[in-house]
Amino acid sequence: MADEKNPFPGENNTGHIWDDNIRELDNPVPRWWMVGFWASVLWWVAYGILYPMIPLGEDSTKGVLGWTQIGEYNDGVAEVQAVRAKFEDQIAGMTPAEILADDGLSGYATASARVLFGDNCQACHGAGGQGGPGYPVLADDNWLYGGTIEAITQTITSGRQGIMVAHGATLSDQEIDTLAQYTVDLSQGQANEAGAELYQTKGCFACHGPDAKGLQIMGSANLTDAIWRFNEDDKLASAKYTIKHGVNAANDPMTREAVMPAFSARLSDNDIKKLAVYVHKLGGGQ
Ligand code: HEC
Ligand code: HEC
Repeated sequence: MADEKNPFPGENNTGHIWDDNIRELDNPVPRWWMVGFWASVLWWVAYGILYPMIPLGEDSTKGVLGWTQIGEYNDGVAEVQAVRAKFEDQIAGMTPAEILADDGLSGYATASARVLFGDNCQACHGAGGQGGPGYPVLADDNWLYGGTIEAITQTITSGRQGIMVAHGATLSDQEIDTLAQYTVDLSQGQANEAGAELYQTKGCFACHGPDAKGLQIMGSANLTDAIWRFNEDDKLASAKYTIKHGVNAANDPMTREAVMPAFSARLSDNDIKKLAVYVHKLGGGQ
């Protein structure tokens, strides 16, 4: 626009004027902004020289540093593995009891076994070994087979399968009722003489022991405690069923099943040791 038509002559406006006096000025960009702008251009060029940046079909410019994302990831993995390898090598040469006694190693074993437990054990024994109907709690100090580190290692390595014969054919319903009531009374600390006599004469003591506290060599349950393996809600019915149909009893298709699988073929020795330490430390190790 010609200067003579500009109502604000001499001002550095662009000649664009609205509402009589609102003008667009042509001031230089502030210095701080220009510094920032050129710095970012410089940064962009430097980045392009150092790092991969411009896509070229399948590939891209490489950058003089030779950095790649997958390379950084692989370095990270190698670093973790180097740390783990040190522990794993030590564990390979030690017994589970020795690992347990070593604070640093047992800490590593527990952390590492938490994932193994989630993958291999949790489906049956519950998160944190809290157990469930038919699957023993691993986080208490009540053990079918023993809570020493050796017993736990043995359980995981070779599996367990406690056997109680079915008594449906050898005991009358009334005898089964009496015995079931006896076990419930026992768990509540109450006497039951008729039951106690049957217990001794019908062969129960051979597996559960004369004091009914269970024999760990057979994995026979402790009948004097308040822990019920199969059905906590209806203890009497549960006891009757167990006595009638047994546990893992070959001669009764309705028998209760209780099979702890063997892990020797599925997990490495190191993993089994770590799991044994983990289970021991869940709270009930002896
Ligand atoms: C398929 C289900 C199943 C899986 C998987 C399983 N368990 Fe078991 N586990 C059992 C059963 C059932 C028993 C009880 C066996 C019995 O009564 O004879 C048991 C018993 C045990 C015991 C003995 C408990 C005691 O009171 O003495 C330990 C220890 C144990 N399991 C640890 C583990 C660990 C560790 C894993 C994972 C590596 C695992 N289990 C995976 C079902 C399972
Ligand atoms: C051959 C050995 C054997 C004999 C005989 C035997 N039991 Fe058992 N019993 C076991 C085993 C082993 C278990 C535990 C199984 C498991 O937990 O996996 C068990 C479990 C039980 C349970 C379930 C406990 C619970 O916590 O739920 C009851 C109740 C029981 N037995 C009562 C009896 C009575 C009563 C007799 C006598 C009539 C008897 N048992 C005879 C081996 C035996």
